[in-house]
Amino acid sequence: MSVTYETHTHDVLVIGAGGAGLRAAIEVSAQGLSVALVCKSLLGKAHTVMAEGGAAAALGNVDPADGWQTHFKDTMKGGKFLNNWRMAELHAKQAPERINELEQWGAVFDRTKDGKISQRAFGGHTYKRLAHVGDRTGLEMIRTLQDKGVHSGIDVYMECTISQLLKDGDGRVNGAFGYWRESGRFVTFNAKAVILATGGTGKAWKVTSNSWEYTGDGQTLAYEAGADLLDMEFIQFHPTGMVWPPGVRGILVTEGVRGEGGILRNKDGKRFMFDYLPPETKHTFAETEEECDRWVKATLANEHTDARRPPELSTRDNVSKAIYYEVQAGRGSPHGGVFLDISYQDADRIKRKLPSMYHQFKELADVDITKQPMEVGPTMHYTMGGIQVNPESQMTAVPGLFAAGECAAGLHGANRLGGNSLSDLVVFGRLAGLGAIEFAKSVEGTPKADEAQVKAAAEALMAPFERTGEGPYEVHRDLQEVMQHKVGIMRTEEDLTKALAELDAIEKRVANVSVEGSIQFNPGWHLAQDLKSMIVVSKAVAKCALERRESRGGHTRVDFPEYDEQLSNLNALVNKGADGKMQYRTEPKPIMPDELKKLFEEEKK
Ligand code: FUM
Repeated sequence: MSVTYETHTHDVLVIGAGGAGLRAAIEVSAQGLSVALVCKSLLGKAHTVMAEGGAAAALGNVDPADGWQTHFKDTMKGGKFLNNWRMAELHAKQAPERINELEQWGAVFDRTKDGKISQRAFGGHTYKRLAHVGDRTGLEMIRTLQDKGVHSGIDVYMECTISQLLKDGDGRVNGAFGYWRESGRFVTFNAKAVILATGGTGKAWKVTSNSWEYTGDGQTLAYEAGADLLDMEFIQFHPTGMVWPPGVRGILVTEGVRGEGGILRNKDGKRFMFDYLPPETKHTFAETEEECDRWVKATLANEHTDARRPPELSTRDNVSKAIYYEVQAGRGSPHGGVFLDISYQDADRIKRKLPSMYHQFKELADVDITKQPMEVGPTMHYTMGGIQVNPESQMTAVPGLFAAGECAAGLHGANRLGGNSLSDLVVFGRLAGLGAIEFAKSVEGTPKADEAQVKAAAEALMAPFERTGEGPYEVHRDLQEVMQHKVGIMRTEEDLTKALAELDAIEKRVANVSVEGSIQFNPGWHLAQDLKSMIVVSKAVAKCALERRESRGGHTRVDFPEYDEQLSNLNALVNKGADGKMQYRTEPKPIMPDELKKLFEEEKK
């Protein structure tokens, strides 16, 4: 087969145009290097917008006692200490600067009475820490970064799927091969360094807040190129997704609702979260409804308070499990969730602070949240695991290949705190940009794609047209069934073992999927490609989940309900072995230096 393709040559190629990709590209461009930003969808349509309630940064505008040390400790505790301590430290220290920078670039945040960026409460954060604009913070960030990016001379390539990374003779990544989704034509990008910022893996599950783009592409591109995937068992089921009507099941209901005082109740009207607080955190939560009321009153007035937080602001892993148990015990709402109520507050304020939630429920569910409670339940929202990177440069184990944002791993450990993703994107997007610049500057000459690799990539892409047999939609449906029911919130040895066997069978079907029709506007063909990524990440999640015989953060084993101290110090890794099979291993996690350990010891005094 002879292969025709167009070529673009840049110093740095960024794959993925959410917050991390945009922030990386801005950094590269600002330093005078040429940068290509490739996105599978349209620019601005990214899962970043699904982080609605705010970006966590210890600005101390509402609670002046906040500082990077507390943010660092909260992030480590939330991640059950499996986080990479250095990433958590960099994040906590640099987040305020990145938020202020966004403001200088034009982001409009809600304000305190004295004109500072307003901050709201979220689960697991000791202080009110989330810089926000109503419930549209991710959208505002994307708008700002996009505006800054297009005026910085970034070359944007939209509706382009990258199917393979390319390497030079020394094993360094030197570009990527892909196709235009509209015309089906091939394209190669030559680059001295490549940054992956493709986001999560949600489409491998049936109920998810992720949209169609999130199929684990970056994780799979990196895995196929020889990088390691870290701690893939940790999946975040956000406690509040819509549950009704069926067509909108999984769409996110922001944690901002609870941050503004939203109350969770079961069908009997019981405020059940009081019963589900882990003993080690119980002292940080309000003990009575009266104390909750005092906290809400101060929150509404944007004032600091000594009243402790309501129990709804426990971490996401904990709230999701509580909802799961309530539903299992027959105390759920009519459509298999629980009730989330903010209707006791002033209607105008609700519409001002939670405008998207108001419209979302009104238009999609015919529910007026200023008058009625919402029905909510867990939805797959975020992938804590991902590509292992160097904390300072964000380079992977493959020279010239970098990763940032949700597709990378390390910052969040076993469970991500809400709001930490938006600050993650800008902190590590920038660092990945800096890492790629340094690497690109060390590369001599102009990168050029190897013809044999391009030919093989083109043949792999076209293979589904050569085959007859099963189409991709049934395969996708079956994959989602396995992940939803056997690799979900509650996991057992039996389910995970069955899941792995079923995923092996699905992998064979993925390799034989066939599509019909033309290469133009062919969604079946796009899905056939996406399935290759979804099967890799699904197998990695199921394998790591089977091997971690304990419960920690976003990974709950019904058969091993406790923490295992031995496993506290071990990260899980998968890579592609020389035989093409997925290999699993564990490694001791990096040791935290004494000065950071002391922060936790001082707290106990
Ligand atoms: O609930 C939310 O607004 C989501 C935020 C996040 O995932 O960080």
